[in-house]
Amino acid sequence: MSSDLAERQRRVFPGGHFGGFRPPEDLEIVPVRGEGSRVYDHQGREYIDYVLGSGPLVLGHAHPAVVEAVRRQAGLGSTFYMVNEPAIELAELILSALPPGWVLRYCNSGAEATNYALRLARAYTGREKILRFEGGYHGHQDYTIGPASAGIPRAVGETVLVAPFNDLEAAVATIEAHAGELAAVIVEPLQRVIPPVGGFLEGLREVTARHDILLVFDEVVTGFRLAWGGAAEYYGVVPDLATYGKIIGGGYPLAAVAGRPEIVGLTAPGAAGPDRFVFLSGTLNGNPIACAAGLATLRELRRPGTYERLHEVGRRLRTGFAEIARRRGVLLQVLGDGPLAGVYFSPEPIRDQAGIDRSDRARLNRLNTELLKAGVLVNLSAKFYISLAHTDADLDRTLAAFDEALARV
Ligand SMILES: Cc1ncc(COP(=O)(O)O)c(C=O)c1O
Repeated sequence: MSSDLAERQRRVFPGGHFGGFRPPEDLEIVPVRGEGSRVYDHQGREYIDYVLGSGPLVLGHAHPAVVEAVRRQAGLGSTFYMVNEPAIELAELILSALPPGWVLRYCNSGAEATNYALRLARAYTGREKILRFEGGYHGHQDYTIGPASAGIPRAVGETVLVAPFNDLEAAVATIEAHAGELAAVIVEPLQRVIPPVGGFLEGLREVTARHDILLVFDEVVTGFRLAWGGAAEYYGVVPDLATYGKIIGGGYPLAAVAGRPEIVGLTAPGAAGPDRFVFLSGTLNGNPIACAAGLATLRELRRPGTYERLHEVGRRLRTGFAEIARRRGVLLQVLGDGPLAGVYFSPEPIRDQAGIDRSDRARLNRLNTELLKAGVLVNLSAKFYISLAHTDADLDRTLAAFDEALARV
């Protein structure tokens, strides 16, 4: 493999990366192959992978069932710009996990899905504003990327209210003060790696329903991951709309917005009337190769015991990290739920973005670098993603590497 790939990437991409996670300068990693829980880089180095393509690869890299499904569909045609068999089968399987009667529309990325969900909510309610939570991430689109990006029209920002996560009283106060203007409240039910405190999601459900405001669960991460029925099933709260991405495309570009038919149905021309019709279409929406990959992935996930295993792996990592930190006398907060885990250097329990902002991020970056050096590929400013391909031996090696890395930082 060409070891000058690292050099070449710096010439063509600003900063030498795609804009998201990047390994530290002195540790450039250009992945050239993934297999199961492993990634191999341009210098032949091997990593246990907890980035997993930022989450889609819940079966691990190049799972045989996904590879076979993609091969087969590629030979049958790559795209039609029309409804196709894998798209129908996948939609049926996705909807079998969601509240009865729901329907969906496909798009290509999680950001598109959240953008469409908010557009649908505005069309359905006839109101313009939305409320999001501080520290929540819903992709690159203008309405929720907030202060993290320049180039957002001020007029767009003026339609967005922000409340702290896990503070029901504050959220209810903001919602009630703006009830007549609010189309939607959008939330990651498990925000990054911060679980919802008891009653928070239930309280959002109650106050939004009371004011005819739509509750949107961004399930791009949690969908088919926390449980087959995602966070809605896991936390027992049913939203009006939900967005899916990552897992449903099995590592190929696919996302969806799903919800009650009277809302998502506004995307069907003729059904809604001209002033409520919501345009939702794209060249590659419902792409058959992505749908075939998603279908193969969801079929594997439906096998008995998969969620038990994913949760067990998550639990083992979280308890392992916490125990190592305790033994070393390091004030480390271990967050996450189910197959998601994250760590922060902080003396206090973390329940919102302010808590994360008070943690020692520089030290976290150093820990990330030490883990990479030890062959553990993870994006600690995001989370540990876990796959069914991670073995108990992988976990033992990861915890040993974590122990040594913690000692060094
Ligand atoms: C909760 C959540 N929503 C939306 C998105 C955006 O998805 P995409 O990167 O596919 O646009 C992400 C991406 O990480 C996410 O974590």
